[in-house]
Amino acid sequence: MSKKPFVIFGLVVAFFMVVVPAWAFLRDGDPDRDQTQVPARLESGQSLFVDNCGNCHKLYAAGTYGDFGPDLDQRLAPAGTPDGPDAAGQIDGTKSQVLSAIEQGADDPTVPGRMPAGIVSGPVAEEIADFVAQTAGRG
Ligand code: HEC
Repeated sequence: MSKKPFVIFGLVVAFFMVVVPAWAFLRDGDPDRDQTQVPARLESGQSLFVDNCGNCHKLYAAGTYGDFGPDLDQRLAPAGTPDGPDAAGQIDGTKSQVLSAIEQGADDPTVPGRMPAGIVSGPVAEEIADFVAQTAGRG
């Protein structure tokens, strides 16, 4: 009797018992799995955003899907093209808007929920605001 069917069966079993779980394990263990690649100088802002803001806000570049607060890609979408003549001015404007939301909180009566003031401050707030201003609405 040929051994070939057993060899093939063995390979199939090995595939499902070893390769598939290993693949699933590696996927789950990858901390960047939902995040987009950002320039190195924005990486720490990205992970600070995930830790401090992601539970409430959706932001494509951070891979977060919080829905307690507004979707920041929509709320902060840049008006012009990403590389238009006023791109730098828009990024500065967005950054101040994010910093003021962080410092003062936000309680627009037309929007459900409110954002508490002072979740983060100082350099951490700066890094987060930089990351958000450079990435929101640009995914
Ligand atoms: C507890 C949930 C919660 C957390 C955590 C949170 N936010 Fe918010 N955020 C909200 C809600 C709710 C609103 C809408 C409030 C409103 O406009 O009245 C909001 C609004 C905003 C706005 C829009 C303000 C504007 O000017 O339109 C920005 C920007 C923002 N959040 C950024 C952040 C950043 C950055 C962080 C992390 C440091 C963060 N949020 C953490 C709930 C949260």
